[in-house]
Amino acid sequence: MDTERLREAMGRAIELARSHRPHPNPRVGAVLLDPEGRLISEGAHVAPGRPHAEVVALSAAGSRSRGATMVVTLEPCAHTGRTPPCVDAIVGAGVVRVVVGAVDPDPRVSGAGIRRLRDAGIEVVEHVLSAECEDLDPAYFHHRRTGRPLLTLKTASTLDGQTAAADGTSQWITGPAARRDAHRLRAAADAVVVGAGTLRADDPRLTVRLDGYRGPQPVPVVVAGSAPLPERARLWERDPIIVATEPRERGRTIVVPAGPDGLPDLEAAVRALAAEGLLDLLIEGGPTLAGALWRRGLIDRGVTYLAARIAGGEGRGIFGGVFSTLGDARAIRLRDVRRVGDDLRVAWVVDEGAFPIA
Ligand SMILES: NC(=O)c1ccc[n+]([C@@H]2O[C@H](COP(=O)([O-])OP(=O)(O)OC[C@H]3O[C@@H](n4cnc5c(N)ncnc54)[C@H](OP(=O)(O)O)[C@@H]3O)[C@@H](O)[C@H]2O)c1
Repeated sequence: MDTERLREAMGRAIELARSHRPHPNPRVGAVLLDPEGRLISEGAHVAPGRPHAEVVALSAAGSRSRGATMVVTLEPCAHTGRTPPCVDAIVGAGVVRVVVGAVDPDPRVSGAGIRRLRDAGIEVVEHVLSAECEDLDPAYFHHRRTGRPLLTLKTASTLDGQTAAADGTSQWITGPAARRDAHRLRAAADAVVVGAGTLRADDPRLTVRLDGYRGPQPVPVVVAGSAPLPERARLWERDPIIVATEPRERGRTIVVPAGPDGLPDLEAAVRALAAEGLLDLLIEGGPTLAGALWRRGLIDRGVTYLAARIAGGEGRGIFGGVFSTLGDARAIRLRDVRRVGDDLRVAWVVDEGAFPIA
């Protein structure tokens, strides 16, 4: 079987993986090929606790797995979680070759799966379309490497950088095309996070509202200080998570320690959200929360919508806080710049090599 066929099969495994979001587990897809490279079966990991992609493909193949090649986007697991190790299932099924996309950075796997396969006499081919396999699930890889969820900051401002007017009005700064695009970002996220100030000012729903969208809704999260939360808010119907330093009267509180300012410690806050299985966080502001996260170095990437409008004065910037000296401005890498409707969309990452964004 030639390399081109293996890459093509990996492309199909990537497609299978992409159609599900099993966080906090990774997206994984697998295909089984017979010795001539013909497709025997396919599998994807659909949700936590459900069989892994490799096992789905093996079960569908039955006895046809003997002598087959498995092509899988992520290194098969070697540990027992909610399901038994995939390496045992692969060895038991008589697979003779495993083609792996990305090596699993999870400390419980991290090369151990590949070693176990080789020890059992199975040929292992590594790093086939590995970058594409990691791009499938940047939040998973980021979380396993850093212990933190992946934070994407979404903002909409006038071309001169104002996210809201001095009187607090901000809906809508950008046009309908940019707003639709922002809903796509929500659809891709596990959770949408705002500060209590935005909850009070905007009464947001934080839902995906796209024509024909039937996928999961992101979990709404409010990071709150100690000031009262509004009595009535559309978000209460969605039972949001409230991250606070003490139990709150509304939603489901996640209690985290206070930082020196008495407000929730943001590093602890995002780690607590990851522990809830929320690995891909879309931060939607406002400026106070965005500024605090930025200064803590917690923002990994962003999508900035710049409206074809000039505010012509100082209302509220993208980030609260003071910009004291030019040396404090950090260089970021632009990944994609395009027009959406009348507005501009700029996608950026903080570090080179970090996560794709589109
Ligand atoms: N154009 C846009 O993209 C966009 C997006 C979102 C919001 N907005 C606008 O932004 C404005 C609201 O922004 P805002 O700055 O007042 O509110 P915010 O950033 O949404 O919320 C700030 C609040 O977050 C809470 N908080 C909890 N932990 C914190 C921490 N460690 N550091 C900082 N804050 C913490 C505090 O709540 P307590 O008050 O409970 O102490 C704080 O007052 C509204 O006008 C809204 O329309 C614009």
